[in-house]
Amino acid sequence: MMSLNRAYIFLGPPGAGKGTQSKRVARQWGVPHLSTGDMLREAIGRGTELGRVAEPLMARGQLVPDELVMRMVEERLRQSDAAGGCVFDGFPRTLPQAQQLDRILEKRGFGKPVVIEFCVAEDDLIRRLSGRRMCSVGGEIYNLVDAPPKVDGICDRDGGKLEQRPDDRAEVVKDRLRAYERQTKPLAEYYRKQNALDEVDASKSMEEVSRALTEIMRRTEGPNGRL
Ligand code: AP5
Repeated sequence: MMSLNRAYIFLGPPGAGKGTQSKRVARQWGVPHLSTGDMLREAIGRGTELGRVAEPLMARGQLVPDELVMRMVEERLRQSDAAGGCVFDGFPRTLPQAQQLDRILEKRGFGKPVVIEFCVAEDDLIRRLSGRRMCSVGGEIYNLVDAPPKVDGICDRDGGKLEQRPDDRAEVVKDRLRAYERQTKPLAEYYRKQNALDEVDASKSMEEVSRALTEIMRRTEGPNGRL
C-alpha cells in the first residue's frame, strides 16, 4: 500500500464517477476516501442534528451550509488515518470551502492539492444517475446498465440490499446539476489558476478512467511530483 502524502480532490458534476473512482483509488493506494455526501448520508441515517439540517436540503438538490460541512470535514481530518493524505470526493464544493481547505492543508504541511476534474456531458450524467443503485450497508456503487451486480438487487461485496438514492429522482437531478454549474464548477478555474488542475475524460469506460487517474497520481506522487 502506498501513501499519497498529499490531498487529491475529485471535482465533477453529479454522476461523473467520482465516488466509483475514489473508492477504487482508496483501495489501491491505501488512503481514506473522504466523501462529504457519504458522511452527510451517514449523519442522516444516525439522526444527528447535522443530519436533520442536511436531509431536506439534499432532498431538494441544494448544498448544505459551508460552516456545517467544514466542521464535519475538520473533525474527520483529525482522525489518524488521514495523516498521510486522502482523496476528497464531492468536497470542496464552494469557493469558501476551497479557501478554507487551502488553509487546513497548509497548516498540515501538505501544500497545494492535486485536483482532477471529471468531464462528462449532461445527457450521460442523467442516464448514469437514473440507473445508479447503492449498497445500503457498505455504500458500494452499481449501475443497472453499466455496472450491474451479479445478483439483482444485492451487493456483490457484502450482500447488502441495493437502493436508489432519493436525490437521484429526475426532478432533483436537474437541481443538483444546476447547483453544480453555479456553485462548484467555478472551482475548476480557481484551481487552474494555481496550476493544480488536471482534467480526465470521464465519459470513457470505468477502466479507462481508472488508468488515466493512476497515471496522474503516479506523476504527482512523492518528492518528484509536480507540486
Ligand atoms: P454527493 O454524494 O457528493 O453527490 P454528487 O457530487 O452529486 O455526486 P454523485 O455521488 O451523484 O456522483 P459521482 O460523481 O460520485 O458518481 P458515481 O461514481 O456514483 O452529494 C450529495 C448531496 O450532499 C449534495 O447534493 C449536497 O446536498 C450534499 N453535499 C455533499 N457534499 C457537500 C459539500 N461539500 N458542501 C455542501 N453540500 C454537500 O457514478 C454515478 C453512476 O455512474 C453509478 O451508477 C456508476 O456505476 C456509473 N458510472 C461511474 N463511472 C462510470 C463510467 N466511466 N462509465 C459508465 N458508468 C459509470
